[in-house]
Amino acid sequence: MVSRRGFLQGGAIGVAGSAIGATSGSLVANALNNTAAETATAKRQLPFYGKHQMGIETPIQAVTNLVAFDLKPETDRSSMLRWMTLLTDDIARLSRGEPVLADPAPELAIGPAGFSAYVGLGKSMFIKLGMESDIPAGFIDLPAFKMDQLEEKFSGGDVVIHVAADDPIALSHATRSLVRDSIPFASVRWTQSGFAHTPGVVKSGVTHRNLMGQIDGTANPQLNSDDFASVVWMDQGPEWAVGGTQMVFRRIAMQLDTWDQLGTKSKEEVIGRKLASGAPLTGTLETDAPDFAARLPNGLSVIPDFAHIRRAAPEAFKERIFRRPFSYEAGISESGSVDVGLLWCSYQANIEEQFLPIQRRLEEFDLLNKWTVPVGSATFFIPKGPEPDSVIAQALFS
Ligand code: HEM
Repeated sequence: MVSRRGFLQGGAIGVAGSAIGATSGSLVANALNNTAAETATAKRQLPFYGKHQMGIETPIQAVTNLVAFDLKPETDRSSMLRWMTLLTDDIARLSRGEPVLADPAPELAIGPAGFSAYVGLGKSMFIKLGMESDIPAGFIDLPAFKMDQLEEKFSGGDVVIHVAADDPIALSHATRSLVRDSIPFASVRWTQSGFAHTPGVVKSGVTHRNLMGQIDGTANPQLNSDDFASVVWMDQGPEWAVGGTQMVFRRIAMQLDTWDQLGTKSKEEVIGRKLASGAPLTGTLETDAPDFAARLPNGLSVIPDFAHIRRAAPEAFKERIFRRPFSYEAGISESGSVDVGLLWCSYQANIEEQFLPIQRRLEEFDLLNKWTVPVGSATFFIPKGPEPDSVIAQALFS
């Protein structure tokens, strides 16, 4: 590894060096600066071993892939343990920026590059393996919601691998490695790709802008706090589940063509926060948008009743979740409409008690529903993290 990396760096300096004779010194300086920046990104390493799987309690990375699998008919509990053993070894290596064992493309292991991956288990997996009695409390498949227009190709799955990194090539290489070692046990049901800001482009932390322009992730439990732990990590239930979490995944399409017709103030009223700063709304409500004109008096100085944050805010202390949504862009139609939205992920210790009441309120009424359509949905149980010499979900499958 060391010698491979040394060789690459030498190559980059060689390129910069060759520019000396041909072009100006500032070009050389830029090339060298770029090399330094790339190295810093490539070196960013997240811890793999520990109480919890990686990739959840961490600032959001630049790019992500979610891959959901359906078990092959012959996959049983002991093959699950073999699969998890392979994945644990692969993820450990990738988190150090190393190639996986028998990697056909080791030169693509450019460094950790903020890599993370975790493995989640769907309720259907428990059922297929005859392990219903192991399903942790509160871990449910979601009921249908009235705004849902779910598509099979974005929904469900027995197992998910959620990979993220700060570099798209590192992400692609890692995803391919993990999928390659999964195929003996399962077939791919769906893959979904997304992105967030590159770290350093906006203020660090999980707060970033989604494609509606909003700062997303403000009212979240703070990473590495006791509050985060109590919202996200399971502290009761079967021994194997403690330290795990329950994930809700929703692919939510954004109708930007109609959204863009709203003025800034109307957009702010839909959410209840300022677009520029993400601060909660104060001041007067706008009545120019047709939907608002009917119901809003001028001069209100509060967050509107229909605003997303008013509907989503917890009504009981336990109704709290950790949101970590990535954006997606999946093409542009002939008429110029972009297919964009969120790969909306939330983590909570109990989906039924924490997530469901919020989603029920948003289903009942949330003005944001006018411009957003859930098109994919799944839930996964994320087992606790492995200690060195153990395997993800070892106690469950042993
Ligand atoms: C495309 C869909 C969505 C968009 C664009 C969106 C956007 C936002 C924005 C901009 C905020 C305010 C800033 C922040 O605190 O992060 C927010 C807050 C929030 N959202 Fe969403 N959201 C979406 C879907 C959902 C869904 C599906 C849920 C849960 C079922 C949800 C739950 C929440 C919660 C709990 C808050 C914090 C409320 C508070 O306590 O202030 N959101 N969302």
